[in-house]
Amino acid sequence: MCGIMGYIGPRDAAKVVLGGLECLEYRGYDSAGIALAEGRKIGISKCVGSVANLKAQLAKNALSGKMGMGHTRWATHGGVTKENAHPHVDPDGKVVLIHNGIVENFHELGEEFAKKGVRFASETDTEVAAFLISSLYQNDPLLAIRKACARLRGSFAFVILFTDIDDRYYCVRKGPPLILGAADGEAFCASDAAALLPYTRNLLFLEDEEIAELSAEGIALYGFDGTPKEVHTKTVDWDASMTSKGMYPHFMLKEIEEQGNVLRQTLTKRIGGPEGRAIDLEEEFPFSREDVARFRRIHFVACGTSCHAAMVAGRLADKFTGLDVRVETASEYRSGSVICDDQTLAVFVSQSGETADTLAAARQARAKGARCLAVTNVVNSSLAREVGSVLELCAGPEIGVAATKTFMGQLAALTLLVLWIGKKKGNLDREKELRLTEEFARLPLKLENVIAQGETLRKMAEGCKDAFGFLFIGRGASYAIALEGALKLKEISYVHAEAHAAGEMKHGPIAILDVHLPVVAVVPKDDLYEKTLSNIQEARARNAPIIAIASEGDEDIFRFSDDCFFVPRTENELTPILTVVPLQLFAYHLASLLGREIDRPRNLAKSVTVE
Ligand code: AGP
Repeated sequence: MCGIMGYIGPRDAAKVVLGGLECLEYRGYDSAGIALAEGRKIGISKCVGSVANLKAQLAKNALSGKMGMGHTRWATHGGVTKENAHPHVDPDGKVVLIHNGIVENFHELGEEFAKKGVRFASETDTEVAAFLISSLYQNDPLLAIRKACARLRGSFAFVILFTDIDDRYYCVRKGPPLILGAADGEAFCASDAAALLPYTRNLLFLEDEEIAELSAEGIALYGFDGTPKEVHTKTVDWDASMTSKGMYPHFMLKEIEEQGNVLRQTLTKRIGGPEGRAIDLEEEFPFSREDVARFRRIHFVACGTSCHAAMVAGRLADKFTGLDVRVETASEYRSGSVICDDQTLAVFVSQSGETADTLAAARQARAKGARCLAVTNVVNSSLAREVGSVLELCAGPEIGVAATKTFMGQLAALTLLVLWIGKKKGNLDREKELRLTEEFARLPLKLENVIAQGETLRKMAEGCKDAFGFLFIGRGASYAIALEGALKLKEISYVHAEAHAAGEMKHGPIAILDVHLPVVAVVPKDDLYEKTLSNIQEARARNAPIIAIASEGDEDIFRFSDDCFFVPRTENELTPILTVVPLQLFAYHLASLLGREIDRPRNLAKSVTVE
């Protein structure tokens, strides 16, 4: 949940680390800190708030060094204070540590150390871990780290400096991601590949239970049992320009506008094949025709926005797979007694591939014998490695905390996945396949057409910037899009928004409607159109202002709504790909009008790597 960056080499370590932290700030922005080693003298600077605060602090009291590490925090243990900000130095002053994750037995360890008279300066689990390593350190850093890891429970990515060692630092991974990079005479580490792209694209994705020693000579790798391991780097095809805002005021807007290309990239390699204009997942889909014939159930499991994409997939799967379909949030899936066995295809959807609940659910499903697939934007993520088989989103790095273009990638990839299974099961005839693939080819342009109407959506948002809340409704897949619209709005504008299946409104939510509560209805011209229209009329009868997201050519909707936004007509199965875009832009503009921190909304972090 936090962002970590480390460096050793000829450059100014402060500059490298601060640059990395700015790139990683989406992972947490409660506090920031840096440690820089100038020979054996380690200088530390920490502050509450953003990396910009840290930079301002360093401008007054500069620190320098050729080795350093930094941290942006999303608070878990201990409040948002300077004392709790990382890096932490152990009370004996031998070890400096930054940490992403949670040490679950830190109370137990802390009490044990307190009995021996140790006094901690912070409330964090990290300082306890630093002391544990320090207390086990007798000139062999690797041994001390290994012994400490054997006593620590929970999840942790550590970067460790020893105050008597000035030519190397250490990284440890058990859970949260750590990515390493080495170039001529320098070695980096970061929580996300994006922070390393300005320096190298040859990356080493640290595995669970590995320890790395980073020096000017490069990277040495060890298992938790001390066995040396071979260093295998992978070349990523992302580049540094993908992680910059360019001319855009916010990453979120840039990422919304990239969605046409995300669609193109997701579709290009999966539509074509020997039959032409055919859905072709042959290379990526890891299951044979016999496997598919054996499947009885398909489960889609995810959190947040990814779960909304999973819901859309679930509706399609009802129609095309003939399987018993279940869509569930990962936290519920893992804590229930779900029937899940070797006849279950379990699909885990996560843009980051690091969400703790989704990972835990995947582990559980695997243990029950389910056949698993990860749908993720990060092919080397923990989820991808846990599950083994990946369907990639092809969205490129997403920096805005509010997911937009990865949602688009998920919608496209999951739609193809479900149609592919439908095809394997004989439930998708060639005529329908042709209609869908032809429409898929037209979709990026249609989507860009919607984006081009951003100003209309800005005006729409302006018209309701004083509303005290919003109620989103929709049916079928449009219900999932209503949920996503409400989530986007509350995430970045902090205005209350809730979403309901349109048919459920009369069972309770209708009570809150009045002239001050706009209803946003996702009402494309599909099989469910008329029923949703009835629900709109019920809301209108209670004086609620109606904003409709409707299909082009729908003249009737004018009579039932106060404001309408039209999306181009498309095949019913593909409608969510278009209807979500105006909702993203509406949320963006409302948040912008309210002066919110759009890319870094309060209380949130992009990857939720704690349970
Ligand atoms: C989306 O805008 C949110 N930031 C959040 O709901 C997110 O989708 C959720 O935490 C799941 O993340 P994942 O896709 O990386 O697993």
